[in-house]
Amino acid sequence: MTGSLDGKVAVVTGAGRGLGRAMAEALAGAGAAVVVAGRRTADLEDCAAKLNAEGGRAQAVRCDVTSESDVAELAETAVASFGRVDILVNNSGVVETTTLVEQEPESWDRIVDTNLRGVYLTTRAIGRRFVAQGSGKVVNIASNFGLMGVSHHAAYSSSKAAVIAFTRSMAVEWARHNVQVNAIAPGYFATDINAGLRADDAATAAVLKRIPARRMGRPEELAPWLLLLAGPASDFMTGETLVVDGGQSIQ
Ligand SMILES: NC(=O)c1ccc[n+]([C@@H]2O[C@H](COP(=O)([O-])OP(=O)(O)OC[C@H]3O[C@@H](n4cnc5c(N)ncnc54)[C@H](OP(=O)(O)O)[C@@H]3O)[C@@H](O)[C@H]2O)c1
Repeated sequence: MTGSLDGKVAVVTGAGRGLGRAMAEALAGAGAAVVVAGRRTADLEDCAAKLNAEGGRAQAVRCDVTSESDVAELAETAVASFGRVDILVNNSGVVETTTLVEQEPESWDRIVDTNLRGVYLTTRAIGRRFVAQGSGKVVNIASNFGLMGVSHHAAYSSSKAAVIAFTRSMAVEWARHNVQVNAIAPGYFATDINAGLRADDAATAAVLKRIPARRMGRPEELAPWLLLLAGPASDFMTGETLVVDGGQSIQ
């Protein structure tokens, strides 16, 4: 397998399924060795086995991104397995649809811990190596909900807006070290995260009405943007958030 990321090593969190899995496949397809991380080992091992069977180099690592020790181990295992890390894709995320009044602090904390603190922990653990080696690409998966006012999603939207702000701050902090930090803000893509919504025809129709493209995205439609941000095309581009949402957030 050869491609634009030949010889590079990527770590993707939440890579067992959904967008993370599609992005791990895209990175492997472009030639990168990929460490696929997350909590559900069966999903991760299945993903790594598929990438290896297709001629790639992949390794599954169990990692809860809210655990500092898991994240430290992830960074160490990636380096032990493939010698270095060049690309970090912070993709793990959780959502809950609820009014603010009904949202218990435990739910708020779970969302912010995973979506924001998790990004902080992994970026810190792997980014310190990027700074030391004088190169690296961080791609944070935010959401267009971080750019919009969205009812019933205060915790999720806040966490994703914070990821966009974190992206900008780290871009400025690490630009002099040749480490680029960018984000992708997807709109609706059909994955487990919105399976409940998609099971409800009326709710799905209401969502599609708000998307100018009148459809959800397909996970593989993120790949070109990810490869751009993970490769040399972004060497002089940092702190940006690419919105891929069929036009939903520009209305
Ligand atoms: N699909 C969309 O419409 C959409 C839109 C905008 C943004 N996004 C963002 O895209 C990212 C991927 O979402 P998805 O749509 O692919 O959803 P998904 O299918 O539900 O996948 C979420 C991923 O996050 C991982 N994860 C959750 N908590 C974790 C934790 N504590 N530690 C490590 N991994 C954890 C899950 O793996 P394990 O369960 O194995 O840990 C899973 O692989 C999320 O950040 C989401 O907010 C999605």
